[in-house]
Parts: sequence; structure tokens; C-alpha cells
Amino acid sequence: MEPMLSVRNLVKRFGGLTAVNHVSLDVYPGEAVGLVGDNAAGKSTLIKCISGVYQADEGEIFFRGERAHFARPIDARRAGIETIYQDLALAGNLGISANIFMGREVKRKYLGGMVHTLDETFMNEASRKVLDTLNIHFANFGEKIEKLSGGQRQAVAIARAVYWQAKLMIMDEPTNNLGVVEQHKVLDLIGKLREEQVPVILISHTLPDVFAVTNRIVVMHRGRRVAEKRTSETNSHEIVQYMVGALDDTR
Ligand SMILES: Nc1ncnc2c1ncn2[C@@H]1O[C@H](COP(=O)(O)OP(=O)(O)O)[C@@H](O)[C@H]1O
Ligand SMILES: [Mg+2]
Repeated sequence: MEPMLSVRNLVKRFGGLTAVNHVSLDVYPGEAVGLVGDNAAGKSTLIKCISGVYQADEGEIFFRGERAHFARPIDARRAGIETIYQDLALAGNLGISANIFMGREVKRKYLGGMVHTLDETFMNEASRKVLDTLNIHFANFGEKIEKLSGGQRQAVAIARAVYWQAKLMIMDEPTNNLGVVEQHKVLDLIGKLREEQVPVILISHTLPDVFAVTNRIVVMHRGRRVAEKRTSETNSHEIVQYMVGALDDTR
């Protein structure tokens, strides 16, 4: 099987600091890969290179078999890479459906195409349908995003990725600052994405979460990839040893 994403020898420097140091990573359809490491290990920088926020200094990224050059995040999104951060790229002053369709609104034409209006009925119904299939239910569907809880916002972001048939979902610390129930909901949703064959890269400090939903774990330490393990063949004690630099498979 061909990897959905293939990162080859990626390097990203900030002045004299090498934040990502010759990192390679393959992600296959239907799998969830945990990306872990101590603070400043380079995790966020690596995924920002993948999602078009940064341009790598060296190395190559292949997405769906083709060399990818994402100059901006919107280019990566159009290609099918959805990235969600703790401080999500959702518009707080808009509703759920407006966020799912943000930048890709459906319009209706009147008077032979002279007049365009947003097709809110269509977008609302489509949003409800995708939320239903994910088993996400809002008592407050018409509410603005800023009124929703952190977990509900994550759910909207995930619904957006499913609706637009994302080919890769990257989540950077998605369960940070969420309550326990909401954390579980987000983890359930990661499972649903996998069922839909959408691969997931999950960055998290919460190792039990990583062990619960991933099938592979990649550990970074000071910019380098120091370990790659099948989740079923490792444990959190061993992963922590890699995270703090006590173990290093490249040495
Ligand atoms: N925009 C930036 N400019 C300069 N240094 C940065 C920038 N972003 C990240 N860094 C540095 O790169 C290193 C890796 O950071 P980051 O990728 O955020 O790590 P992580 O997500 O694993 O905590 C850190 O030393 C951080 O200070
Ligand atoms: Mg980070």
C-alpha cells in the first residue's frame, strides 16, 4: 500500500536553531500515528511544514504519491490536509454550519444567475447530516461557535474534515484543556476518522490517549526522530525514555 503522506529527510531551521532535523515519516490510509516528544522537540514545526504554514529548508513531502509544495495552509487544505490546533481556525462569531462551509459556501442563483445568495437551508441540512453520522448532537445547533465548549468546537472541526473528505487529519494537542468527557468524545471521533480510512496524526502529551487511539508512535527529541514503534509493541515507560533522551534508536 502506498503511503498517503511521505515526509523525507525534512529540515527546518530558525536562524541557528534546527527545529526539525532530517525527519522522515510515512502515514498510511486508515492509520493513526501518535507524534510525541517533550516541549520544543519540533512536533508543531514538523506538522506546520506539512500543512503549508512553513516551508522546509531541506527534504521532500509527498502527498498521495505526488511531490507536494504547499505555499500556504489553504493549498494544503484544498489538497485534503485538515489541520486542527487547540486554538482552532474556526470563526467564533459564526455558527456551526457557517464554519463547516467557511470559504466553500454553497450559493443559490436567482434570475438566471444574476443574483447569488447563500443556500443556508442546504448548508444547515448538510451540516446536521454529517454531525449525525459522527454521532455528534447539539442542543444548540444555531449557536455561535464562541458559545460552544472546547470539545464541541473540536467536533465541529472534525465534522468539517469529514464533510470535505479530508485525506489526512493532523491534530496538534486537540484534547488539551478539555474536560474528561469531552476528551473521550474527541478520541471517539479519531476512531471514526480511522473507520472512514482518513489517517490521523495526533500530537499529544497525554500518553494514555496516544496509546488508546494510535497504531504507531513516533517520538521526536530535539528536532530528531529518535523512535518509531508499533503501539502494541511498546509502553508508556519506554516512550518516556525516548522523550527524555535516555533511549535513542538513531544512536
Ligand atoms: N517561529 C519560530 N521562530 C523561531 N523559533 C521557533 C519558531 N517556532 C518554533 N521555534 C523553536 O523551534 C523549536 C521547536 O518548537 P516546536 O516545533 O513548537 O516544538 P513542540 O511542538 O515539539 O513543542 C523550539 O526550540 C522553538 O522555540
Ligand atoms: Mg507544539
